[in-house]
Amino acid sequence: MTKRVAILISGGGSNMVSLVDSMTGDHPARPVLVLSNNEDAGGLAKAEARGIPTAVVDHRPFRGDREGFEGILQEALACHTPDIICLAGFMRVLTESFVRPWQGRMINIHPSLLPKYRGLNTHARALEAGEAEAGCTVHEVTAELDEGPTLGQARVPVLAGDTPGTLAARVLDQEHILYPAVLRRFAEGDRSPIYLP
Ligand code: GRF
Repeated sequence: MTKRVAILISGGGSNMVSLVDSMTGDHPARPVLVLSNNEDAGGLAKAEARGIPTAVVDHRPFRGDREGFEGILQEALACHTPDIICLAGFMRVLTESFVRPWQGRMINIHPSLLPKYRGLNTHARALEAGEAEAGCTVHEVTAELDEGPTLGQARVPVLAGDTPGTLAARVLDQEHILYPAVLRRFAEGDRSPIYLP
């Protein structure tokens, strides 16, 4: 049975594009929805150009009411009956009551070698710490931010003269390889982690 995948974004959606473009041929999953909390997210037009249904659930009217926001998010998702949710640069923290029913079916990409550098500004923090390598992690989403079982990691070297921007670009190239590779295995029911390169 083909798995139905919803992808949640907030911005440019380059990871979303790499996931969508991977789900062809004998891939066990297909994209059914790209949803953003931000109507200006550049990824929405990229999804539309690929013929994927899109939705926007703006978090701003729900200031101070995370569960109200998540109720509408849940309704928007339910219309498309996804089997798997991929968070791909989705910049909202989800509460335990949203996450719990999706646990085991929701995955995220984070631009660090978890458990190092949970949260924001990962590349600047890795550079400040003098790390020799950096990378990205795909993991199952649990109620704790940027935790949950690791499904894959990709490493890159930190180079002399790197800025947060140059390092982010090098890591992003690996995100675009790692996330589709993990999604394919996850959709096949294989949760054993992949380590690249
Ligand atoms: C990626 O670096 C992702 O790891 C992080 O946010 C960025 C999103 O980029 N969570 P994009 O929207 O996929 O281009």
